[in-house]
Amino acid sequence: MARADLRQLLRWPRRPSARIDVDDVQALVMQGYGRLRGAAYLLLEVTDPIPARSWLAALVGEVTLGERRPVGTATNVAFTATGLGRLGVTDDVLAGFAPEYVEGMTSAHRTRLLGDAGAAAPSAWAWGGPQGPSVDVLVLLYATTAEELTGHVQEQRSRATASGLREVALLDTEDIGLGEHFGFRDGISQPVLAGTGRPSGDLHVVAPGEFLLGYPNQHGQAPSSPTVAADDDTARLLPPAKDDRDRRDLGRNGTYLVMRTLSQDVGAFWRYADAQTRRADGSSDPAARTSLAARMVGRWPSGAPLTLSPDRDRPELAEQNDFGYHEHDAEGFACPIGAHVRRTHPRDSLPPRPGSDTSVEVGKGHRLLRRGRPYGPPVDLGDALTAEEAGDVRGLHFIALCTDIARQFEFISHTWVQNPHFAGLYDDSDPLLGGHTGEGSGFTVQQRPVRRRYVETPAVVTTRGGAYFFLPGARALRYLSGG
Ligand code: HEM
Repeated sequence: MARADLRQLLRWPRRPSARIDVDDVQALVMQGYGRLRGAAYLLLEVTDPIPARSWLAALVGEVTLGERRPVGTATNVAFTATGLGRLGVTDDVLAGFAPEYVEGMTSAHRTRLLGDAGAAAPSAWAWGGPQGPSVDVLVLLYATTAEELTGHVQEQRSRATASGLREVALLDTEDIGLGEHFGFRDGISQPVLAGTGRPSGDLHVVAPGEFLLGYPNQHGQAPSSPTVAADDDTARLLPPAKDDRDRRDLGRNGTYLVMRTLSQDVGAFWRYADAQTRRADGSSDPAARTSLAARMVGRWPSGAPLTLSPDRDRPELAEQNDFGYHEHDAEGFACPIGAHVRRTHPRDSLPPRPGSDTSVEVGKGHRLLRRGRPYGPPVDLGDALTAEEAGDVRGLHFIALCTDIARQFEFISHTWVQNPHFAGLYDDSDPLLGGHTGEGSGFTVQQRPVRRRYVETPAVVTTRGGAYFFLPGARALRYLSGG
């Protein structure tokens, strides 16, 4: 595909989109709170629904909404299907939510789909697993500084635990700057909701219904949304349901929130890259080591895409995100086909016609808004290479927002991340996320005259907890609290 055509493709016409009722949307959908450096996640179990609903009624007024950047602190709240049930949502209303959400993340089917096998199996999880206490509510707490966060957390946890809720876990995060623990810049490539007017290449402008219930998605349809009988909403808090005068829309301005606690074995990642790139005399080759690690990620440590700079890190390209793989690098000679970022968002390389506008359009049906934060102390490369560390010391509390868990998060995980035959590969799963299922433990670097194949890549990321939540709009929160 010619360069001029790609430019055309990046100017992809914006779909006319419905105006987003931002004041009813929890702000986490619209922003990642980058300036609020402290964050903690409070997981709660509902033990007594009546005081728990009163707790929620008091919390609603404090939930951070809209597009404005909050000052000081921010608070958001989400619920699992069991949580909604315990707060009084009936089974027939729950049946209107996505089946994946209702079923939960740990069913045998989902476990296979997500590659949660071996050490990553839900039976070994620290939270959300079948043996552990029920996780019903997630309160997401943010603050500008660690001190402010401590106060915010203490207040919220004492209010919750005095009101029919029991603390299951408090998940801390760590401010390690702009990167993640392997040492790469994170949070660069995000979709932008059409109609929000945010500056972005059109490759990343996606219909709002991919991330918010109640709006048209990439297929021009409003995603399926849970409803309640109009008679059950006597205070008329909820908007009318589309196409049914007798029901009201509980889902509008809400979305699903996927949370996974992913521990990272930084030492195993870098020791593997080191061992594979040693010189003939057995000494380490730091440049070659970084180059292989960058090939696994698909970006250099600074964030610069390999597609645009295959041979060296160029920090001035760190935030570059308007490029297609097919246009620049169809064969994968710059960024390997199986690299983490190329698998999780293949951009213009999807069938049926890679390089075409159809390919980009297909990809827009599989995007995620990522909102996760790292946890655990950072480790420097020297220590990571020498000291082996056991257990769950550091990692990423991965958080993704989407309206179709199956088509977005699960499809990416199953068909792209875990798939050993992704895009014609032979036995390679995602070099960051694969490795627990016994399949796909290779990594291929396409190059001339022959490709280079690395084998027995270690499992460096292990799921330690997780659940599917629903992040309701403000009116729905008020309804759930009993009006
Ligand atoms: C500990 C686990 C993970 C680590 C260390 C990690 C690391 C990274 C890094 C360094 C980037 C490049 C920076 C950026 O574009 O923002 C990235 C991008 C991305 N990751 Fe991950 N990631 C992890 C888990 C996941 C999971 C579980 C998924 C989804 C199933 C995922 C999906 C994505 C997506 C969609 C992108 C953006 C790709 C693009 O649009 O170019 N990641 N990740």
